[in-house]
Amino acid sequence: MVVALTSRRALLRAAGASVLALAAPARSRGAAQDVRAFRLTAEPSQVALLGPGNPKTAVWSYNGVAPGPEIRVRRGEKLRVVVANRLDESTTVHWHGIRLPNAMDGVPDLTQAPIAPGREFAYEFVAPDAGTYMYHSHQRGNVQVPMGLFGPLIVEEREPVAVDRDVTWVLSDWRLTSDGQISDDFGNMMDVAMDGRVGNVVTLNNRLPASWPVRAGERIRLRIINLASARMFALSFEGHRPWVVAWDGQPVEPHEPEAGTLVLGPGMRADLQLDMVGEPQSSHAVRDTFYPGRSDPIATFAYAKDKALAGRPAKAPLRLPPNALPEPDVNKAARHLIAFGGGMMGGMMGGGGMMGRGRGMMGGGGMMGRGAMWTINGVAAQGPAMEPFLTLDRGRSYVLSLRNDTAFFHPIHLHGHSFRVIARNGAPARRREWRDTVLIPPRESADVAFVADNPGKWMIHCHILDHQEAGMMGVIRVA
Ligand code: C2O
Ligand code: CU
Repeated sequence: MVVALTSRRALLRAAGASVLALAAPARSRGAAQDVRAFRLTAEPSQVALLGPGNPKTAVWSYNGVAPGPEIRVRRGEKLRVVVANRLDESTTVHWHGIRLPNAMDGVPDLTQAPIAPGREFAYEFVAPDAGTYMYHSHQRGNVQVPMGLFGPLIVEEREPVAVDRDVTWVLSDWRLTSDGQISDDFGNMMDVAMDGRVGNVVTLNNRLPASWPVRAGERIRLRIINLASARMFALSFEGHRPWVVAWDGQPVEPHEPEAGTLVLGPGMRADLQLDMVGEPQSSHAVRDTFYPGRSDPIATFAYAKDKALAGRPAKAPLRLPPNALPEPDVNKAARHLIAFGGGMMGGMMGGGGMMGRGRGMMGGGGMMGRGAMWTINGVAAQGPAMEPFLTLDRGRSYVLSLRNDTAFFHPIHLHGHSFRVIARNGAPARRREWRDTVLIPPRESADVAFVADNPGKWMIHCHILDHQEAGMMGVIRVA
């Protein structure tokens, strides 16, 4: 039944494509040349985060919903997204994970002028890779994102993928006061110096954890996006054995999550193949166990009464077609060490206020203030106009050794490129998967390799947005 839906969608697309072809006969090179138009309005809104019967929550939304609407295009299509700003402060939108031209990357003052209140900006770019991506504000991200300015961006493969349902789960969290409103304690010292602003209410898409209807025997492609500004998730699926088929949009050799637990730091995405092997009418929780002592359901699969979908051929594991990423030549690559420092030591509360190793917030002769607590190569970035700390030759392969010298996790995100994770703590990585955000545990390291093929000034930063805003960001130039 759902397969029929997919093919109906394919038909609709085919119809849409021919209409466009008619309208613009000069562009007769097929779907790859079509422009898909969208509009996002950033505005204050009231949303029913806590469900019916509870007070609505004042948020900043795109088009009145938080998360923002799912933008869905096909690989090779051109998007045109007009962003209108109806907030009282300026904003930008970043298309996280998309390898796009620098001027469309949405970093205020670095790649564009901020979109002032009352103004619009048109983002236009081709989506070169199929996969699961996301968009979010990149201005005062540690405020605008936890206020609600984020959403999913899905790029479909050119050929339909053999699943019964294609589902997006946007995970996020909110810090709400007892009256259901977003707490305004943004950037408070404890958050900034430690784990970032972890909320007290988790949502899946736009609602609280709830039951989630499934049917026995169906195969689901589950796209999970962590769009929280600081919270990590470690998901386990009771009674089910999901396979990871893509990380950060890029296909990977299908494998079960390590130790049966899918770990997603902020900014990270996983595509799962999920075969619904439960019995009709059974229910099974998906739990988050990242934080010690917690095991909170984020959703509960609720099987319908219907008996399992029958008469279906045995299903081979899902293999997604690869995207065309330039393969780095690791042997010829130039290497750079990038060290992430700062923050409080884990034992700060009982340990006499120890600071981050070497160059923490008290380093550098007490020059760093409250807003500069985290560093890249010893420097806590301040303000929007950042000079590149590294310039890479366009077209050349690089290995960046990313070293976490702190007592905290950091999901490190590079703009404009995907990279292969080739080593962890100096040992070769098994799958060498492509990512755009790599989670580095305390005192660990990851080596990532890529071809610097996309010219421009690209941010690299921690995706715990309080860490980013307090200095753990920098600019790499490709020229
Ligand atoms: Cu998703 Cu620079 O961020
Ligand atoms: Cu961080």
